[in-house]
Amino acid sequence: MTAHLKQDGPVDRAHLDGMQQGLLGKAVPRIEGYAKVTGTATYAAEYDVADPAEGVLVTATITKGKVTYIDNDAALAMPGVLAVIADARMTTRPAQGTAGEAPEQEPQSVSYWGQPIAVVVAETFEEARNAAKHLVVAYEADADVDLDPAAAQPEPQDGQAVEMGDLTAAMDAATHSVDLTIETDGHASAAMEPHAAIADWDGDNLTVRASLQMLNYNIAELADALGVEEDNVRLISRYVGGGFGSKLGISEEVVAAALAARQLGRPVRVVMSRQQVFQCIMRRSETHQRLQLACDAEGRLTAFGHHARVSNLPGESFAEPVLQSSHFLYGAENRSLGMDLVRIHRMTAGSVRAPGEAVGMPALEMAMDELAEKAGIDPVAFRLRNIPGENPEEDLPFTSHTLADCLRQGAEAFGWDDGPRRPRMRREGDWWIGTGMASAARVHNVSEAKARVRLTAEGRAVVQTDMTDLGTGTYTILAQIAGEMLGLPIDRVTVELGDTNHPRGPGSGGSWGAASIGSAVYLACKALREEIARRANTGEAELGLKDGAVAGGRTLVDLLGGEALEEVGHYEPGDNQDAWTASGFGAFFAQVRVNHWTGEARVDRMLGAFGFGRVLNEKTARSQCLGGITWSIGAALTEALHFDPRDGHLANPDLAEYHVPVHRDVQDVEVLMLEERDPLASAIQAKGIGELGMCGGAGAIANAVYNACGARLRELPMTPDRIL
Ligand code: MOS
Repeated sequence: MTAHLKQDGPVDRAHLDGMQQGLLGKAVPRIEGYAKVTGTATYAAEYDVADPAEGVLVTATITKGKVTYIDNDAALAMPGVLAVIADARMTTRPAQGTAGEAPEQEPQSVSYWGQPIAVVVAETFEEARNAAKHLVVAYEADADVDLDPAAAQPEPQDGQAVEMGDLTAAMDAATHSVDLTIETDGHASAAMEPHAAIADWDGDNLTVRASLQMLNYNIAELADALGVEEDNVRLISRYVGGGFGSKLGISEEVVAAALAARQLGRPVRVVMSRQQVFQCIMRRSETHQRLQLACDAEGRLTAFGHHARVSNLPGESFAEPVLQSSHFLYGAENRSLGMDLVRIHRMTAGSVRAPGEAVGMPALEMAMDELAEKAGIDPVAFRLRNIPGENPEEDLPFTSHTLADCLRQGAEAFGWDDGPRRPRMRREGDWWIGTGMASAARVHNVSEAKARVRLTAEGRAVVQTDMTDLGTGTYTILAQIAGEMLGLPIDRVTVELGDTNHPRGPGSGGSWGAASIGSAVYLACKALREEIARRANTGEAELGLKDGAVAGGRTLVDLLGGEALEEVGHYEPGDNQDAWTASGFGAFFAQVRVNHWTGEARVDRMLGAFGFGRVLNEKTARSQCLGGITWSIGAALTEALHFDPRDGHLANPDLAEYHVPVHRDVQDVEVLMLEERDPLASAIQAKGIGELGMCGGAGAIANAVYNACGARLRELPMTPDRIL
């Protein structure tokens, strides 16, 4: 049976709150935590598949052109080498919007330095790596290469443009205004677990164990790339060691393993090296943003301009959605928003954690800080004054709105000083100390999701879906929802994820995972409760299920009478999602120190206050916020992709040169969660959490750097050379 809900309006507010088990929302430790810390959780490359051959990818050493020759014979003469496969299908990436399926064995074209062009397969990894390293490849290089985003021809993205009123006139007439340009460097996903796949054919049936975020979608991509039916493909991805967007689509290692395994008639494993992950996996585009803001004497915004330029490869459709929250965060009658995409020959640009707001919000919040200063208004008060009652561009109501509460409660918890502010007010030895703040916003999305819940005759629940867990806590929250709904302690719930043999989930991405798949599990359990209520001769709301028994004492096992029950929950967003604006909101507060002599900046203390609907698990939700704030610190101070201006190759393709914050960089971080119910956001009244923690945080740090030392930075990250 299927319990279906297409949500086109608010759900019953009370329902989930009336349960007895006391699991939902609690800080339940990860149910798969033990498997992870003992190394028994199986990641993509670790599955025990009989006698796999090992594949190593070979990457292009030109920026643009064609592969004209590969010396297969020399490679095949090397020890252990079984095959050299150079197949254009490997680099066909429908995930990134590249059109169509490439014909087999056409000459590989190269459009960026480091692009995978072949896979060498051998008996051992060492033999494959050796042969890949020595593979002789001839190219026909094309000199017509674009490497500089500032010099390339902009393509306006009309879908994102908004013009209301007269921005220029409002800027000219305003009491206070700022007009500034901010640039942010590109970011890498740099997940701990590198991209890896083991492919295994049984006749026409292919099983691939891989590290992927969206199996529901990846299965179609892979079938498409290989020219086979989806029904012949099974994907397994039980644990994912981080994705951050880099595993939303399939990449070369998946297709290469599948092609090689078919050719050799034997399982093939392909694991990307750390350098390959950096070079071949999509990047967050660098951005160039112009902010034009103006306000009246009371600090009310009258003009709001935000224009951005981002880049991608020729033929790719993705454009970092920098303006996403700018459309609704602050009111102002005169608005102008626009986005240009330029084409350059760097690896594909795509979704990297919090695509859009991760870089758009910090820039906006840096401009807001400057305008607040000009207007002589405290930055918290300035934001409070400009929160619109509804989406200012489309007259749409918000499903719920916590920005004001986050600003007030965050300021109080942080101990924000709302007295007069000017830079260089406090010095301790060699360090200037300062504080800064910023708003947070990240659009909320839900996606279609299916999950099966089975109640066994022994009174245990089994949840099954192809949903993935990126380390975010999906296993645990689904066990909590099922346990809460069915009145079972957590150790009587089993959650099976990451297998396309199970009903299709929404995949993990865009912070839609928990709310969407949680709603599907909720719906399945609700239907099971109705059946239990029928058997117990009571109403579903009166069940009082707890610890495997209904109110009055009859046990589930007794009510099941030796039978197992099963339901599939099917959740779908309604067709009217554009009738409201849904977003998570928050506020960041930071205290930093900047070294007077070296320009080194350190975040001493940071607080984030967030509102994102129902909190499903206090611990994993908080961890998501901590992770987001850590990304904020990286975006503010260290993270930058550096490309060689001569050939566009990535100059810092590893974690020694691409600096993410380490433990020592993340000092005192506090998270305040403002629990709310948003009955329009999802069936379980939860919104996305994962990405909100980095949507503006770098702006709070930049504003604190200014307050500390007086430097208004125009570039992120704020490395010492830029601060000095
Ligand atoms: Mo995300 S960047 O949609 O995994």
